[in-house]
Amino acid sequence: MADSHKGLTYKVTPKTAFVKPHELDSRILTCIVMKKNNYPEVSVLKTRPSLERIQPYKPGKPIEQLVREYGITGEIIKLASNENPLGASPNALAALSHALDEVNLYPDNSCYELINRLSEIHETPPDYITVGNGSVEIILQAALACLEPNDEVIMSEVSFIMYPIAAHIAGAVPVKIPVKDYKHDLEAILAAITDKTKIIFIDNPNNPLGSVISRSQMDAFIERVPDHVLVVLDEAYYEYIGSMDYPRSLHYVHAGRNVLVLRTFSKIYGLAGLRVGYGFANPEIIHALSKVRLPFSVNRPAQIAALAALDDEKHVDESRALNETGKMYLAKEFERLGLEYIPPYGNFVFVRFPCETGPIYKALERRGIIVRPVGDKDALRITIGTPEQNKRLIASLEEILPGTNPQHTRNTQ
Ligand SMILES: Cc1ncc(COP(=O)(O)O)c(C=O)c1O
Repeated sequence: MADSHKGLTYKVTPKTAFVKPHELDSRILTCIVMKKNNYPEVSVLKTRPSLERIQPYKPGKPIEQLVREYGITGEIIKLASNENPLGASPNALAALSHALDEVNLYPDNSCYELINRLSEIHETPPDYITVGNGSVEIILQAALACLEPNDEVIMSEVSFIMYPIAAHIAGAVPVKIPVKDYKHDLEAILAAITDKTKIIFIDNPNNPLGSVISRSQMDAFIERVPDHVLVVLDEAYYEYIGSMDYPRSLHYVHAGRNVLVLRTFSKIYGLAGLRVGYGFANPEIIHALSKVRLPFSVNRPAQIAALAALDDEKHVDESRALNETGKMYLAKEFERLGLEYIPPYGNFVFVRFPCETGPIYKALERRGIIVRPVGDKDALRITIGTPEQNKRLIASLEEILPGTNPQHTRNTQ
């Protein structure tokens, strides 16, 4: 039987005879549309209407994609996902080669060894610690464990893109607060709390801005958050911070506050491809997260590599030093080029341009350099690379931006 609906011609086959034409509505994704090759697509499927509010997570462009798009043969540098340009911890790589022998076995679902080592290092009991498939998994778990439909989740308008996605997945409402002076506006966040607020997400340093909230600011903020709200302090770039007066977030957890502190092996440890993040919170919260966790979400090689990376202080120190050098070099060069930037506390810089950045982004891509567009049309987020990569970036920007004014030193703070 052939029929048409909303301009689509479809054929109801015996397999889909249960579909009554009056049941078809705009949420129907496919209705046995006859494609060019005459293969029928999957049968009628209704998805949650609320999914329309979700913008799927958009990662930095993979190197392979740039090769496909431009056929570039030279070295491509990816400064788009805040990965460690030094690579993975050598200790982790050595451990990883042994881990491969046992990939026929399921991993330890409890991540016992990794959690116990984290417990020793951070002087926090194991039942206060969880490990996830990247910290994004724990962000989603927090949303699934705490939110009922229509609950509210507060976040800065400019912050990690996973927060609104997690809120929407749980059917909750993201409440986005504008940033002030390129930082989280903690007063405005506090003022936005209602009885419906269940989670506040704060990335510190903020991604993409790279700005930080200091210890005294955070102490005062946590003090004023009511007990029915979980504060997720996302410290993905924690190890890069250095000497600033940074919050002692684990103290909030130890003091019994409703705080979930997130860290990751994706950044300074150089294990983004293995997907391991971890979190600290009181055991009730950790237990709640475990209920919505996928079994075996942290695979065996990932657990083994993360454990080895934790004790590779040399790699962490070298990575931090490389980042510091790159930070100083880029700051000097951006100032010379008259480009505004936010003093970075992570391993990336938020840079403003005197024009829309779409063409700059494309021109960099053609030169084999991938950076990250951000919400603002005149800004880019650029990961700090190796000295060679940073130099190539600056040389490319000089070619692309002949009109930049090297006289002006503009720094947004
Ligand atoms: C603020 C922030 N949180 C979390 C993540 C995700 O980290 P993971 O790789 O552990 O999922 C990122 C990654 O860019 C980030 O910038």
